[in-house]
Amino acid sequence: MRILGIESSCDETGIAIYDDEQGLLAHQLYSQVKVHADYGGVVPELASRDHVRKTLPLIDAAFAQAGCGPEDIDGIAYTAGPGLVGALLVGTSIGRSLAYGWNIPAVAVHHMEGHLLAPMLEENVPEFPFIALLVSGGHTMMVKVAGIGQYEVLGESVDDAAGEAFDKTAKLLGLDYPGGPRLAKLAEQGVPKRFIFPRPMTDKPGLDFSFSGLKTAAAITIRNNDDDQQTKADIAHAFQTAVIDTLVIKCKRALKQTGINRLVIAGGVSANVQLRAQLERVMQGMQGQVYYPRTEFCTDNGAMIAYAGMQRLKAGQFASLDMKTKPRWPIDSLEAI
Ligand code: KG4
Ligand code: ZN
Repeated sequence: MRILGIESSCDETGIAIYDDEQGLLAHQLYSQVKVHADYGGVVPELASRDHVRKTLPLIDAAFAQAGCGPEDIDGIAYTAGPGLVGALLVGTSIGRSLAYGWNIPAVAVHHMEGHLLAPMLEENVPEFPFIALLVSGGHTMMVKVAGIGQYEVLGESVDDAAGEAFDKTAKLLGLDYPGGPRLAKLAEQGVPKRFIFPRPMTDKPGLDFSFSGLKTAAAITIRNNDDDQQTKADIAHAFQTAVIDTLVIKCKRALKQTGINRLVIAGGVSANVQLRAQLERVMQGMQGQVYYPRTEFCTDNGAMIAYAGMQRLKAGQFASLDMKTKPRWPIDSLEAI
């Protein structure tokens, strides 16, 4: 079976073709970074319009890359939520309409389930059950995964997501959008321990996160210090270290609490090399293993949507004919497979 995946929930148009026997056949990605750069963040209306322009040409490019056509496709998966409603509507209406026209089923995919299952596209796949730390621009979640669609949310952010905190702090440091990866790069030049920021909510039990206080601590430090390049790098280093320490403490807690020793990290922030290195170290100490997607599949992409959609296509879980988006969609409300 072969599926076409469409991702359009935020500022990336991602298209992929996935075959359940041959694996990923094509993957096309267009990033809207340039469209939003002048505004310092994503402008939803501009995002929607750009998805309209790019989706069909990218689908054509994916077919050319895979060497197949619509007649070879058994279903279409599109991101139905969570995300920006206008952006979601573009992928939803194109995906739903093509499926109708080609007389094949459509599958509505949950964006965070796409992230969560992205490591399954790699060679070394985690067995169930595992703990998943999902860290993106919109969500921070610790999830116990018993199987596909069997998600128990153990903790989540009560305010900003980890990626959002990275982006906002980067902006305060004068870095261009998208700030997360730029802040991580700047932190490489930072002197450790010149500044020390709090590790929010680690002294209390539980697995929830909070990053807005950390962002405020960084803002105050930026205001009270010179704005030379070294100071900025030192602040970036302190901020990144505090976020990573906090995530690592919570991962250890979740693994201990559940007795599970397999950890998945996914979502944009899982591209962070320091976070990966720290979690590798922790998992070695626990005789466990950490799994993550290749870097290009940490951030938004069509391959993860095609993969997640394939699992639901095979289970016969199709979307109805109406074009429904779910800008807010709890991951633990998904159907089990
Ligand atoms: O998963 P994603 O592409 O989009 C959402 O679903 O939100 O995640 C994007 C987020 C952004 O906040 C971006 O700054 C962050 O991931 N990010 C990073 C890194 N690469 C991307 N944050 C820290 N370090 C990185 N290397
Ligand atoms: Zn995402």
